[in-house]
Amino acid sequence: MGFDTIIANGQVVTATDTYTSDVAIIEGKISAIGESLPRENAGKVINATSKYVLPGGIDVHTHLDMPFGGTTSADDFETGTRAAAFGGTTTLIDFAIQYKGQTLRTAFDTWMRKSSGKAVCDYAFHCIITDLAEAQLEEMNALVRDGVTSFKLFMAYPGVFMLDDASIFKALRATSKNGGLVCMHAENGGAIDVIVQQVLAEGKKAPKYHALTRPTTAEAEATSRAIALAEMAGAPVYIVHLSCNDALEKVREARDRGLPVYAETCPQYLYLSIENFDAPGFEGAKYVFTPPLREKWHQEKLWNGLKTDRLQVVSTDHCPFCFKEQKELGRDDFTKIPNGGPGIEHRMSLIFSGGVAAGRFSVNRFVELVSTTPAKLFGLYPRKGTIAVGSDADLVIFDPKRKHTISAKTHHMRVDYSMFEGIEVTGMPDAVLSRGRVVVQGDRFLGRPGAGEFLKRALYSQP
Ligand code: URP
Ligand code: ZN
Ligand code: ZN
Repeated sequence: MGFDTIIANGQVVTATDTYTSDVAIIEGKISAIGESLPRENAGKVINATSKYVLPGGIDVHTHLDMPFGGTTSADDFETGTRAAAFGGTTTLIDFAIQYKGQTLRTAFDTWMRKSSGKAVCDYAFHCIITDLAEAQLEEMNALVRDGVTSFKLFMAYPGVFMLDDASIFKALRATSKNGGLVCMHAENGGAIDVIVQQVLAEGKKAPKYHALTRPTTAEAEATSRAIALAEMAGAPVYIVHLSCNDALEKVREARDRGLPVYAETCPQYLYLSIENFDAPGFEGAKYVFTPPLREKWHQEKLWNGLKTDRLQVVSTDHCPFCFKEQKELGRDDFTKIPNGGPGIEHRMSLIFSGGVAAGRFSVNRFVELVSTTPAKLFGLYPRKGTIAVGSDADLVIFDPKRKHTISAKTHHMRVDYSMFEGIEVTGMPDAVLSRGRVVVQGDRFLGRPGAGEFLKRALYSQP
């Protein structure tokens, strides 16, 4: 019997090793790793000489087809997973939202319907809880048993998503028993709202006031409170989209004390800054997302956090809204600009470029940040997140030298602008495989909507 596919002579990279080898695939799984594997009877041989062979990227923070801010995010499960695949991301974890008065099961069923028959690569869900009565605490256990093993809670967006401290504490206590993981949006929503109302009353309505009304202290305070609540509950906690050094310091202190506290940042906080609001006219709306962009000096602190394991994951918080049709809703009032930005496609290249090509950390650390640790934290390892016999053949043949200038003219996300327009990256995927099938080859998309499977996840494990 031959192999279905052999990826020949690439530099195989995992979180711990780099070595030259062939990787063979049978029925969507990695079946052998070794030098000079037999080519006879192989269905296909892909030459990866002088290329990296990476485990497929895992983006644990995306919002596809998400109703928000009076509209719906512009990528659905087909266009979003397709764009992800072009960038080397082969698994994503999106958010099923429980609206007030609903069961958590309704949220899950709704998002299963949205994704059904559409995704081109594998996906899973966290459940966003906005209303936590006794019944939902029970439901959390049931969802964990059914493979939805993480929950997002909000300390921001009062009246929409925000939960009070008692509810947050109850949810954390539930996960300390059922083995799930709480993902926290950490900003002090109450204080921010007071500042927002004051600024609006002063007639300040331009996009930049979105950033100016959400101070770093509001993020640091909530991060610290989330950590304290988790510590009291005896639960781990994962801080999402961490944007600034003040919050990073809270995570560092907690980790230095040995607490199971984890945090992700996103490419926008590493590449963009509050200076992006200097763009002319209403252009600043392109950068309205939450937490907001910070002063430039935070960027290097975040890069250093990634290098030193004070930050463990890079996700995108992909939540695209078209500039013309959707961001426009807030032309006269920044509070009406739908919050979110597009990023699912370029995470791997931006982090490789700024991290590895720029000499900040190793290619192994890169793999750890964008694939291995996300898989471990969110119950997907070792099926995903590594290159090992028995793992899914989600693989990226990555050219570390290829340069590319990011532009909305060439990207595959269904949105009319790029946050990273004009930025040149070094390092691009040449080919991407999802469970052994080539889904992207250069500029060509070879995948199929519906081929992506919903993943039931195991419990959180320490990376
Ligand atoms: O602005 C953002 N981040 N939109 C998506 C929702 C969230 O808070 O993650
Ligand atoms: Zn959030
Ligand atoms: Zn988000």
